[in-house]
Amino acid sequence: MDTHGTDAEPRSGPSTERSVTLRVNGDPHRLRIEPRVSLLDALREYLGLTGTKKGCDQGACGACTVLADGRRIVSCLALAVQYEDRAITTIEGLARNGEPHPLQAAFVDHDGFQCGYCTPGQICSAIGMVDEFRDGLPSAVTPDVAARDFDFSDEEIKERMSGNLCRCGAYTGINEAVRATFADEVTR
Ligand code: FES
Ligand code: FES
Repeated sequence: MDTHGTDAEPRSGPSTERSVTLRVNGDPHRLRIEPRVSLLDALREYLGLTGTKKGCDQGACGACTVLADGRRIVSCLALAVQYEDRAITTIEGLARNGEPHPLQAAFVDHDGFQCGYCTPGQICSAIGMVDEFRDGLPSAVTPDVAARDFDFSDEEIKERMSGNLCRCGAYTGINEAVRATFADEVTR
């Protein structure tokens, strides 16, 4: 029914908002939000942490990648209420004592970006990826999944970062930055 030009009352009902505490970059934030709010929207729209980007909003591009208890997740597919009291790290939380994280500096040194839109997700994803590598988790290109001593090769890095798309095509620089930052510490 068309209600334009009528005195129809806006629909109202009981609030379904919930109280939730999100721990982001070491700081607790108490919020009242609808259970349907994604972690991505909670970060950007409620907390003002706009470093985490919204690309596809459907789990396909990786632009929204953050770390939850050190594991990488796409925050557009996560409900904020599910992450109560988990340790969330975003791109804003990576610097230490005013210095960028070594991977952030390497992205500059190796031309790992052009427009920069995918970059926060690329960097958070790479940090999570390296921990997966250290933990001996194989990828689709690991030759022997039982060996647990696979190489930190370009092929492994590309495969493990394949969930993070870059429309500018800065993949060569991204790969070099990841390798330059982490190769020494993960090479066994
Ligand atoms: Fe989340 Fe694209 S915005 S995967
Ligand atoms: Fe532009 Fe990756 S630097 S999308």
